[in-house]
Amino acid sequence: MSYSVAIDGPAGAGKSTLSRQAAEALSFIYVDTGALYRTIGLTAARKNISKEDKDGIVGMLDSLSIELAFNDDGEQIVLLNGEDVSGLIRTPEASMYASAVSAVPEVRAFLLELQRNMAKENNVIMDGRDIGTVVLPNADVKIFLTASPETRAMRRYKENLDKGITCTYEEVLRDVNERDRQDMNRPIAPLKPAKDSITLDTSQLDFEGSKQLIIKTIRENLQ
Ligand code: DC
Repeated sequence: MSYSVAIDGPAGAGKSTLSRQAAEALSFIYVDTGALYRTIGLTAARKNISKEDKDGIVGMLDSLSIELAFNDDGEQIVLLNGEDVSGLIRTPEASMYASAVSAVPEVRAFLLELQRNMAKENNVIMDGRDIGTVVLPNADVKIFLTASPETRAMRRYKENLDKGITCTYEEVLRDVNERDRQDMNRPIAPLKPAKDSITLDTSQLDFEGSKQLIIKTIRENLQ
């Protein structure tokens, strides 16, 4: 029998870094499902398919093979038809495309089995938007990880500066609000806490505090 932990929440709540570190502490596999949507978004961008062209997006799915692998440090690598696109899917353009393609039901259906199979075969911490509500409704622990839009925008802004990406705080806040709006208002799999999830708000916590809280919450609820 394997255990599964679902971690959902808005963009910039620290889900991926916290989930990865929690997975390491618990010796679970970490699956970042946003990377799957980003990979489909990247493909659409590369093929010059517009974000609004639903038929174009659905039409390219048949030619896509997406695989998740893990490097020696336990980091997730995404392979798109065999090509490692783990870095390429992190640009702001890929983010906006990911949000657009994730609103297409056929895209969500295409990725569902892949995500469920990962959880069948391994003890997983899986992060995304609909893991507790749709992908793993029977997850052993469900966490909704959030923080205020301003806190999330400030964290993302600092990350961008560290990476040498030029932007203003106002631009990042606008992007955060825009992505929240898209992710929460789409008709299919909108971002919302599962009924049986535990909400953790990290607005007032630093990284270490958030990490301890998430690990403690998982440990207590896995019993
Ligand atoms: O977590 P992220 O920023 O890498 O996610 C990229 C986009 O994919 C985001 O706009 C929401 C979408 N997404 C989704 O709809 N469902 C998931 N399980 C994960 C991500």
